Amino acid sequence: MTIRITWARAIAAIVALALAGLLFAWSGVFNIAASSGHWKITDWFLHWTMRNSVRTHAAFTAPDDPKANEGLVSAAGLFRASCASCHGAPGVRPLPVMQAATPPAPDLAVNAREWTDKQIFWILKHGVKYTGMPGWAAKDRDDEVRRMVAFVRLLPEMSPATYRALTEVPGSGTAGPDTARIAVCAGCHGTDGRGRGQSDMPVLGGQSPVYLRAALQAYATGKRQSAVMANAAATLTPGEMTRLARHFATMPGLGTTTASGNANAARIVREGLPAKQLPACASCHAPGKPYPVLAGQSATYIAQRLRNWRGDETVVDARKSQATMPVIARRIPEDMIDPIAAYLAGK
Ligand code: HEC
Ligand code: HEC
Ligand code: HEC
Repeated sequence: MTIRITWARAIAAIVALALAGLLFAWSGVFNIAASSGHWKITDWFLHWTMRNSVRTHAAFTAPDDPKANEGLVSAAGLFRASCASCHGAPGVRPLPVMQAATPPAPDLAVNAREWTDKQIFWILKHGVKYTGMPGWAAKDRDDEVRRMVAFVRLLPEMSPATYRALTEVPGSGTAGPDTARIAVCAGCHGTDGRGRGQSDMPVLGGQSPVYLRAALQAYATGKRQSAVMANAAATLTPGEMTRLARHFATMPGLGTTTASGNANAARIVREGLPAKQLPACASCHAPGKPYPVLAGQSATYIAQRLRNWRGDETVVDARKSQATMPVIARRIPEDMIDPIAAYLAGK
C-alpha cells in the first residue's frame, strides 16, 4: 500500500506533532534542571543556532570600527567587577556557583579566538538569550563596548600579572571608613584622581565636589548612562557618595592648566558663535561659577561627552535646565568638537 502525501495529510501531521510537543511540555517530563546539563546534541544545536544568529546580526548591525584599543583600564576594571565571576580572568577562576549554570560561561581565553571583532561587539552589546550572558548595561555607549572588545581580544595572551596591573594600583589609600571603596575607585581613577593616563577617564582632582556628587547619583540612577560607572556607583550609600566626591575633588588636578591651541576653538570658548546661538563656554565654565571645571580635562573625554549629548534624541526643550548641554553640544559645528576639546585640555 502506498500513502499519498496530500495537503490535508501534511497539515494533519504537523498539527499532531505540535500537539504532541504541547503534551510533552504540559506533562512536565522535560527536565529543565540546570544540574542535568544539556544533551550533547542539544548543546551542539543551541550553539550552532547562536553562532548563526550572531554571524547574521553582527554582519548587518555591528559598526565597522568595533574595537578601540585605548582605555583598557576601564574595560579591565568593569570585567573584573561584572564579568569575571562567570567567565573567570587571567589567574582568576570563575565562581563555582556560576559554573553550575547551563550552559556554563565559556573560558574567553579560548573562545575569544572563535569570533571576529564585529561578532564580539554584537554579543557584548546585546547579550545571549537563555544563557545568562547579559547585554550592555548602558544605552548609547558603543564607545564602552568597543573598549571591552579590545580587552576581550587580548585575553588569550594576557598574563595574570598584566591583568593585575590593569585592575589594581598599589597603596591606594588613606586609612578611614572609605579605604576599601577608594581602592576600587583608584583601580581606574588612580590614587591621585588623574585617571592613570587613560584618555577615556576624566580628571577628578580640582573638580567641584557638588558636581562630582551629582554625577555619582546620576550614574547610580541611570540618568547618566555608563555601564562602567553605573556598576561602580550602584552600591554607594548617600554618605559615601558625598565623602568620595570630596576625597577626589580636593586633590590637585583640573584648573592648573591654561587652555591653549586652535584660534577658532579659543573664540568659541570665549565668545561663542552668536550666528548659531551658541553661547560662550566660558560664560558658565569659569572659576567661581557652579559649573564643572573643564580646563585641564582629558580631551578624549570632553569630546566623547559632547558627542554623546549630540546623539541624545530625547532632549528637546532648551528651557529645562537639565537640557542645557545637549542643546549647546548640538550647536557646535562637528569639525570644531575635537579642536575645542583639545583647547580646553590645554593640548
Ligand atoms: C551570568 C553569567 C555571565 C556574565 C555576568 C557575563 N557572561 Fe558572557 N557569557 C555567559 C554565557 C553563559 C555565555 C555563553 C553563551 C553561548 O555560547 O550560548 C557567554 C558568552 C560570552 C561571549 C561569547 C563567547 C562564546 O563563545 O560564547 C563573550 C565574548 C562574553 N560572554 C563576554 C562577557 C563580558 C565582557 C561580560 C561582562 C561585561 C560577560 N560576558 C558577562 C555568561 C555570562
Ligand atoms: C572600572 C573603572 C572605574 C571605576 C572602578 C570607577 N570609575 Fe569613575 N569613571 C570611570 C570612567 C571611564 C568614567 C567616565 C564615564 C563617562 O563616560 O561618563 C568615570 C567617571 C566618573 C565621575 C564623573 C566625572 C565627571 O567629570 O563627570 C565620577 C564622579 C567618578 N567616576 C567617581 C568614581 C568613584 C567615586 C569611584 C569609586 C566608587 C569610581 N569612579 C570608580 C571609570 C571608573
Ligand atoms: C549655560 C551654561 C553652560 C554653557 C554656556 C556651557 N555649559 Fe557645559 N555644562 C553646563 C552644565 C550645567 C554642565 C553639567 C551637566 C551635567 O551635570 O549633566 C556642563 C557640563 C559640561 C561638560 C562635562 C564636564 C564633565 O566633567 O563631564 C563639558 C565637556 C561641557 N560642559 C562643555 C561645554 C562646552 C564645550 C561649552 C561651549 C561650547 C559649554 N560646555 C557651555 C553648563 C554650560
